[in-house]
Amino acid sequence: MVEQATQQAESVVRGRARARDTTKAQLVVAANRLPVHHSPNNGSDDWRPSPGGLVSALTSVLQNRNGLWIGWPGTTEPENVPPSYEGIRLKALNITEDEYENFYLGFSNATLWPLYHDAIRAPTFHRHWWQAYSQVNMRYAQAVADNVALNGTVWIHDYQLQLVPRMLRELRPDVRIGFFLHIPFPPIELFMQLPWRRDILAGLLGADLIGFQVTQAASNFSRMARRQSSATGTDSLLDFEGRSIRVGAFPISVDSDQIVELAHDPAIRARSAEIRKDLGDPEVVLLGVDRLDYTKGIQQRIKAVSEMFQDGSLKPGKHVMVQVAVPSRETDAHYERERHNLEQAVSEMNGEHGQVGNPVIHYLHQNLPFAELVALYLAADVMIVTPFRDGMNLVAKEYVMCRSDLTGRLVLSEFAGAAAELRGAFMVNPHDLEGVKEAIRLAVNAGPKEARDRMSRMRRKTYRRDVYDWAESFLLALRQTAM
Ligand code: G6P
Repeated sequence: MVEQATQQAESVVRGRARARDTTKAQLVVAANRLPVHHSPNNGSDDWRPSPGGLVSALTSVLQNRNGLWIGWPGTTEPENVPPSYEGIRLKALNITEDEYENFYLGFSNATLWPLYHDAIRAPTFHRHWWQAYSQVNMRYAQAVADNVALNGTVWIHDYQLQLVPRMLRELRPDVRIGFFLHIPFPPIELFMQLPWRRDILAGLLGADLIGFQVTQAASNFSRMARRQSSATGTDSLLDFEGRSIRVGAFPISVDSDQIVELAHDPAIRARSAEIRKDLGDPEVVLLGVDRLDYTKGIQQRIKAVSEMFQDGSLKPGKHVMVQVAVPSRETDAHYERERHNLEQAVSEMNGEHGQVGNPVIHYLHQNLPFAELVALYLAADVMIVTPFRDGMNLVAKEYVMCRSDLTGRLVLSEFAGAAAELRGAFMVNPHDLEGVKEAIRLAVNAGPKEARDRMSRMRRKTYRRDVYDWAESFLLALRQTAM
């Protein structure tokens, strides 16, 4: 009894000390990447904010709560990560060369990434990759446990960190844990291939709230959990090891106001006019913007457009395509091959249909500043987004937010999460080449009224449900979970 009372008293004292400790954060975000990245061209101390609405939204929620962001600085070289960014504290979680190979390139991007994207490339299963994945996840859990305040809140992001919720719960049962998966969660038949499927499920079930991009992913997960773990319950509320876990869809979005503002910026509008002029003042500009990834269907899209130049439904000089492919995971063989094949397709298309001074496709393998992307979105009459599978696809939402003149047209894969909301798009099955061609043809030839109706429907849906709304609704749902 005495011993128990002493232990309790000690634990209360420890708890109070933790609560008083202002170095601990009320809200911790853990993600595979920090919100800043190193820009190697500009000297060793140059760190820039990573692009995208996610960083802005999470920064704003962290700023108000003595927040901390734990993540990888994107390099295996020890670097001087700044201690804070826009008032939020940063904690770098470094990984070794071996972990880069086995955790990042291996288990995260050659096992989970393809498996969760319909196995478009065959996933590879290696036990030593799994070991590295568990090891890095444990390091994250420990780093979070050491830095979160008593009864604090932790928000863990994405497929690289699926074991962290359970590991963290074991270390710190007092904290509230949310997990959000940014990519699809696969159907049962595919997930069953994973030799460590039970561990991943148990890892995720350590959270109080598990968020997905779309309802389908949430129900894939809950069905899988009921089948392969002791979880019981419904698709939206599971009981596991005496706890209740909420599961739901929280579709991520963009920073609508920021994009609308940029799209009205006179300098960006002038740049957009300049782009059209540089493209030879064509009647119709078609645009693709993607991370160079085999899930994005870039080659299929180029093949479709190329065949349309071939059969005369598109005409050199009158129609022109721009494809931006943002460099990604370049040390992975699948990505290297994808780039090679894509560049071959681009060069064949220009070789066959281009004219001197009049290429039919302009290809940029570059990471463009966001302002330049907005200028491109403004210059494009038809935006083509045709992934084979995509958690959400924010490019589609960015394009829609730029088009306040209601003239742009969006061709969108029905396998992108964004398709659930952007019903005004010209929908395609990216595997159906004839269907893709037909949708592009309809988009190119759509009259102004049809384009306006479709675009205003999509803008109405996207404007309010921005990334701030996404972050707030996730955190509100997390606060409402039972502890
Ligand atoms: C997707 C994932 C993110 C990832 C990003 C870039 O959007 O959901 O977690 O950070 O791709 O990939 P990378 O491997 O460069 O981090």
